[in-house]
Amino acid sequence: MNYPDKVTVVEVGPRDGLQNEASALSVAQKATLVDKLSVSGLPIIETGSFVSPRWVPQMADSGPVFGSIRRRPGTRYTALTPNERGLDSAIDAQVDEVAIFAAVTESFSRKNLNASISETLQRFAPIMERARSLNLPVRGYLSCVLGCPYEGEVSPAAVSQLTRQLLDMGCHEVSLGDTIGTGTAGSTGRLLDTLLTDGIAVEQLAMHCHDTYGQALANLVIALQYGVATIDASIAGLGGCPYARGATGNVATEDVIYLLDGLGIEHGVDLPALLEAGRYISQQLQRDSQSRAARALQAAADNSAD
Ligand code: HMG
Ligand code: MG
Repeated sequence: MNYPDKVTVVEVGPRDGLQNEASALSVAQKATLVDKLSVSGLPIIETGSFVSPRWVPQMADSGPVFGSIRRRPGTRYTALTPNERGLDSAIDAQVDEVAIFAAVTESFSRKNLNASISETLQRFAPIMERARSLNLPVRGYLSCVLGCPYEGEVSPAAVSQLTRQLLDMGCHEVSLGDTIGTGTAGSTGRLLDTLLTDGIAVEQLAMHCHDTYGQALANLVIALQYGVATIDASIAGLGGCPYARGATGNVATEDVIYLLDGLGIEHGVDLPALLEAGRYISQQLQRDSQSRAARALQAAADNSAD
């Protein structure tokens, strides 16, 4: 089986994880989490989002969070920007990269962005233009690529068409969001088959798997076999999506690193430092980590200390 030699792990916990937390964390707690993640050597940390505080109040302090973090050379600190106002705030916060986000279904687009798919794409056009003039890289997200909470099954052809549109608009990559985690190894394979057959370069794809049905690692193994070499993950499996009820967090970063180590794939992340970041945020939120690998490694360490 062919696997990539090296994988880029995109840490989305401080954004995708914390946007869904009921208990508000302080700016200092959020910045400490990002700093601990930086120490682990993660190459990309999605640190916040510049969206409407009416829609996602948990991210209202992203500006101060960016102002409080210690930036590690070699790590890119990124944020979501749904409109030009968000881009202005992101530029003020000196982000290294921004992300626009669209959905494959009209219902999810309306719930998440209060606009149709084509309206959201029109709204992104001036973001792309300004980002280009500033040499600011833009990532594209597509939600509901393997199922929608409102419309059910989604056609791979629709995902392919929107992925192409986001790339043609100038996104350097598209992160394929299994927003509600209903994807399986079978549907992940069928989706990637369609995208690659349609001529989309695998280097421009990332996988973003929420683990609601416990399928994320299986789906990632399939994606790796197709050559996908960028994987989104969330420390301690934090998160969900405020507009997809019942969706749980992304696959845990610790579990992805354990998987990559098992396959001998290079990733550049220090697992003990990552575990420390996961312990920290789980303590702050007063809950158990959702990472099975982190829990098992902690139990093994506790046993050997006895
Ligand atoms: P709207 O209500 O249609 O827009 O929302 P609006 O222009 O009427 O703005 C409403 C209010 O928000 C106004 O304030 C604006 O000024 C303010 P008011 O005058 O009522 O006091 N506002 C802003 N404030 C700060 N920053 C901004 C901004 N924009 C407007 N940038 C809008 C449209 C797009 C703004 C809204 O729908 C929105 O913010 N949506 C974001 C929702 C979101 O963040 N969802 C979660 C992230 S996506 C995700 O999790 C999926 C992903 O992980 C992949 C996957 O898993 O599938 C990426
Ligand atoms: Mg997500």
